Amino acid sequence: MTDVGIDAVEFRTGKLKLDLAETFAEEKDDDPAKYTKGLGLHASSFPDAYEDIVTMAANAAKRLMDRRDLQPQDIGRIDVATESAFDHSKPVSTYVAGCLEQVYDTNFHHANKGERKFACISGTQSVDDAVNWIAAGKNRDRAALVIATDTALYERGDSGEATQGAGAVAMLIDEDPDVVTIEPEQGFGSADETDFLKPNQQFPSVDGKRSMQVYLMRMREALEDLEMQRDTHPDDFALVPFHTPFPGMVRKAAALGYRHVARNTDVEEELAEEIGRQPRPEAFDDEETYRDALKEYTDKLTETDTYQEWYGRAIEPTLEISAQVGNWYTGSVHVARLAGLKHARENGLDFDNRELLVCSYGSGAQAEIHTETVQPGWEEEIAQLSVDNQLVERYDISWDQYEQIHDVHNHDETTDVDAFTTPEDEFVFDGWGRMGERKYTYVE
Ligand code: HMG
Repeated sequence: MTDVGIDAVEFRTGKLKLDLAETFAEEKDDDPAKYTKGLGLHASSFPDAYEDIVTMAANAAKRLMDRRDLQPQDIGRIDVATESAFDHSKPVSTYVAGCLEQVYDTNFHHANKGERKFACISGTQSVDDAVNWIAAGKNRDRAALVIATDTALYERGDSGEATQGAGAVAMLIDEDPDVVTIEPEQGFGSADETDFLKPNQQFPSVDGKRSMQVYLMRMREALEDLEMQRDTHPDDFALVPFHTPFPGMVRKAAALGYRHVARNTDVEEELAEEIGRQPRPEAFDDEETYRDALKEYTDKLTETDTYQEWYGRAIEPTLEISAQVGNWYTGSVHVARLAGLKHARENGLDFDNRELLVCSYGSGAQAEIHTETVQPGWEEEIAQLSVDNQLVERYDISWDQYEQIHDVHNHDETTDVDAFTTPEDEFVFDGWGRMGERKYTYVE
């Protein structure tokens, strides 16, 4: 099969920042460590009054196309993944194409456009669709543009409020990619769950604690499914990027994943002297005692130097951006991959031809775990990103300003709030059209 995968990537954060320790915790009268240590989050990104899922997506896509000197006719497909869409019929990809056509001389009239929905996992599903389209030989030498874009807002006062975020990740999917190839083996864990959903409503109904259990159960199933297709070992993977609703969730998932992957390997044997071997179900009379023993083993495992060295190398770097921007829903696992590669570049790590284990997840619920192989062009591509500048330049909002901006993006509120930042060289939301559609212009 031809090598297909991510050839280029772009990152676009919402331009406002809510500091969780300084502003959110203070207002809620909470210990800041609940957010910075417990959830592992320092700040959330929010869109300014003129930003939304379309502007963030279009701005990411434009920067990617300009960097790669692409024209609309080079793109055969635009897939947008989002769970923040404002239209039940017209896909966000058409709005994005409309924006881009304002600034390029040609158009995307021969590109197939769509919108994918399955909570946060639809970003990865869109990448899969694009890879399959190219692998099937239907692309006529054109690439696919996949954009994961979300304004991940919760109702004010909801348990998820601290985990909000907003931003877009654009990815160019093509043959002989520069960043990673997507390998064909995929493990799935999927079940009909009601842990997080938006039945005809903007903000999610969430059973927060249960959503964490469901995340872990589906991840375990996906890993089991992958292991039916290939062997795994903790040392196989340079990075393990997870869907990151907040880093504390990944802390739990990583321990479970490591325990699983280390079972029946030399790693389990080497650790046996220190913490014993992993409990096996056949040694227990009932499920509950087995689960208790597993928990006890996992707690000891995460204290070992072996585990901590692995966590610091394969997981921690993937959380560095999420901790500063919050949950980007469909973009979250792609932010995690990007963060890990950015860390590797900044630390001079040789990742050429190394494998990544990419663990995606969407509530409702489904996990997908697949492997990717880092390509020799990755460093040059990652060097082009402006992540640090974008994060530093965010406008730090006060609590009052947070309340205002939350209302601006609440579809049930009508507000008239001035933007906190000044747009420059970017697409902006510009009011409503005659059929209730959102309108956009490019501001020089
Ligand atoms: P909560 O009840 O506010 O927080 O909500 P908590 O009391 O459980 O505390 C959080 C952690 O901080 C705990 O750590 C505390 O111990 C710790 P843990 O015990 O779990 O390891 N803590 C402290 N640590 C240090 N110093 C302190 C301190 N105080 C507490 N002083 C909850 C947490 C996740 C429920 C909430 O944020 C929520 O509802 N979030 C939204 C749902 C969510 O993100 N679920 C994650 C899995 S589902 C998913 O990822 C899919 C999703 O992205 C949607 C999609 O797919 O579309 C959400």
